[in-house]
Amino acid sequence: MIGDFTYENPTVLHFGKDAVSSLGGEVSKYGRKVLLVYGGGSIKRNGVYDDVMAQLSLCGADVTELSGVMPNPTYEKLLEGAGVAREHDVDFILGVGGGSVVDYCKAVAASAWCEEDPWEKYYVRMEEPSCRVIPVGCVLTMVGTGSEMNGGAVITNVEKGLKVGKVFGPALFPRFAILNPEYTFTVPVYQMVAGIFDVMSHIMEQYFSGEDDNTSDYIAEGLMRSLIRSSVAAVKDPHDYEARSNIMWTATWALNTLIGMGKTEDWEVHMIGQAVGAHTDATHGMTLSAVSLPYYRHIKPYGLKKFVRFAENVWDVDAAGMSDDNIADKGLAALKAWMIEIGVVMDLSSLGVTADMLDAIADSTFLLNGGYKILSREEVIDILKESL
Ligand code: NZQ
Ligand code: ZN
Repeated sequence: MIGDFTYENPTVLHFGKDAVSSLGGEVSKYGRKVLLVYGGGSIKRNGVYDDVMAQLSLCGADVTELSGVMPNPTYEKLLEGAGVAREHDVDFILGVGGGSVVDYCKAVAASAWCEEDPWEKYYVRMEEPSCRVIPVGCVLTMVGTGSEMNGGAVITNVEKGLKVGKVFGPALFPRFAILNPEYTFTVPVYQMVAGIFDVMSHIMEQYFSGEDDNTSDYIAEGLMRSLIRSSVAAVKDPHDYEARSNIMWTATWALNTLIGMGKTEDWEVHMIGQAVGAHTDATHGMTLSAVSLPYYRHIKPYGLKKFVRFAENVWDVDAAGMSDDNIADKGLAALKAWMIEIGVVMDLSSLGVTADMLDAIADSTFLLNGGYKILSREEVIDILKESL
C-alpha cells in the first residue's frame, strides 16, 4: 500500500431474502416523518412497494411519497424533491429503486435545507453541505452503481449538457441498505447486463492505477473473477439466486471506497461515459461498455505491467513464451469476449451517438489525472471515434 488513507463506512447492510424485515426497525431510529422516493413504478408492479409499505406501517411512519425519479436524474427533479422534503420537514428519506433513486435521495438530502444553489455548491464547487442534512436509507432493486454504500450522487443538468458525479462524505452515505437479490429478478436483462458492466468498470477504474504491490488490487482481482463467473450464470438464468446474490454483493464492494484505498484511481471511462450520457440519456453501464475497449487499448502502453497482471490473474491467460504486449492483448481480448457473451453494447452508434456529436461530448468530458495517462482533448476525440 503506498498512499495514506482514512477508511470509514457507516452503512449498515441487511442482505438476503428476508432483509426487508429489518426495514421498520431501521427507519424508526430516525423519526416518524418519512419521504418515500421511487422511480417510474417498477416497485408497484413487482410487489416491493407493498413489502416496504407493510414495514413502514408497522413502525408507525407518516409517509410522504415522491415518485417519477428518472434514470439519470435531472437537476430540475432534484429541486422538486428538495422542495417536497423541506415543505414536509421530513426526518428521513427512504429510496426504493436503483442507483438513480438512491443517488437522487442523497442529493435531495443535502439540498433541502441548502441556502445556496445546490448545483453551484455541490456540482460545480464540489463542496460538502454546510446545512442540516437529512439521513437517507435505501431498499435496492437494481444492482450496479454501489450507491447503496457510498456517497455518490450523480445528477444531469440538461440545460448545461453536463452529467456530474458529486461524491459526498459519510454523512450522506445511506445509513442502511436493504439488499434482497430476489428484488432484482424483475430487472430487464438489458438493465441487468448494463449494471454488471458498471460493476466491472468500477473495479477496473480503481485497479488500473498505480504500480505498487497493493492489497486493494488483490481484492479487486477476486471481485472481478467472481463477477465474471456469476454474470455468465445470471445471463443464462436471471433467476439463479446464487449468481444474482454474488453480483449484488460484488457490486456493493466494488464501489464503497474499499478497493480504492491507497490508490490514485483512474475514472476516465466514467468521465467519457457520463459525457455520453449527458448528450444521449443512454443507460449508464452501456455508455461505459461502448468506450471501454478503445480506452484501454489506448492507455495500455502506459500501464503495461498492470495489463499483464490483469490478463494473468483475472483471465487466466497462459503467458508462457509471450511478450508482455501480447499477454496484455490476450487479456483485453478475453475482456471483449466476455462483454460479447453477456451482451453489453459495444459501440456508441447503438446509443444514438453520431459523428457530429463528438465535439460536444469531448467538451463535456472532464480530464482526470489518477490513471496511467492524462488524456488530451484530441485523445478523447480519437477514443470516441474509435468507439463509434
Ligand atoms: O424507474 P423504475 O421504475 O424504478 O425502473 C428502473 C429504471 O427504469 C428499472 N428498475 C430498477 N429496479 C427494477 C427495475 N425494473 C424492474 N425491476 C426492478 N427490480 O431499471 C431502470 C434503471 O434504473 P437506474 O436506477 O437508473 O439504474 P442504475 O442502478 O444503473 O443507476 C444509474 C444511475 O446511477 C449513477 C449513474 O450515472 C446513473 O445516473 N451512478 C451512481 C454512482 C454512485 N452512486 O456511486 C456511480 C455510478 O458510476 C453511476 O454513475
Ligand atoms: Zn458507474
